[in-house]
Amino acid sequence: MGRCYPSVSEEYKKAVDKCKRKLRGFIAEKHVAPLILRLAFHSAGTYDVRTKTGGPFGTIRNPAELADGANNGIEIGVALLEPIKEQFPILSYADFYQLAGVVSVEVTGGPEILFHPGRPDKSEVPPNGRLPDGRRGEPSHLRDVFHRMGLSDKEIVILSGAHTLGRAHRERTGFEGPWTNNPLIFDNNYFKELLSGEKEGLIQLPSDKALLIDPVFHPLVEKYAADEDAFFADYADAHLNLSELGWYKESH
Ligand code: HEM
Repeated sequence: MGRCYPSVSEEYKKAVDKCKRKLRGFIAEKHVAPLILRLAFHSAGTYDVRTKTGGPFGTIRNPAELADGANNGIEIGVALLEPIKEQFPILSYADFYQLAGVVSVEVTGGPEILFHPGRPDKSEVPPNGRLPDGRRGEPSHLRDVFHRMGLSDKEIVILSGAHTLGRAHRERTGFEGPWTNNPLIFDNNYFKELLSGEKEGLIQLPSDKALLIDPVFHPLVEKYAADEDAFFADYADAHLNLSELGWYKESH
């Protein structure tokens, strides 16, 4: 079973390639890969598989969606990217934000993630409150949110590995500090640090620690801490799924 993607014009494909190069330079120079990856996640992570609402369809730039408490700070990423988006009016915001997410992983040394263009922009903004809450340490909270998106237990652990990039900002979420000592490098250090316990200067959110106390999640944390190649291969697949929630169709 493959995925059946819409075809886009040659002009659109060229714009994607050129925009990807611009994004690489911009994201690397400004050191904003973590914030932009978080933006791409928050854009896609509103998807509800049951009602087929939300998802990576460009709505995150809308003030009503940015007003979700979970999106504090995302408006900075939206504003930073706008001058680049303006250079590519042909692209949908939906594609543009997901392309920027893929580039953020790539320029920090992470795996290459497939990108398929053609997502439409939607006008209906999903309700606030669909994103995960870092203050909650119950595995059931992560399952509620990610299963609602149509993602699996394994994908919860893999995608949490994105916290190997970046840091929490007290003024945005009340939490402070990076998860690793090299927050601009995409590697498997998130899992290694999680297993090695709390350390001065590094953060573990209650939602990160939920991965340690669950019998399904914990062995996967061990696996990815021990095997970066496995993490990269599985991350590339899981990120692709995240970036296409509610969009791709299975062909039969
Ligand atoms: C599992 C549930 C998750 C929770 C509860 C959560 C929560 C948070 C919180 C509270 C922050 C701190 C934001 C700040 O203060 O600036 C953060 C940062 C971040 N999150 Fe998550 N997150 C989750 C999953 C993910 C996923 C799946 C991704 C991407 C695939 C992701 C990517 C990031 C990145 C890259 C940052 C760093 C942002 C920066 O440095 O500005 N997170 N997350």
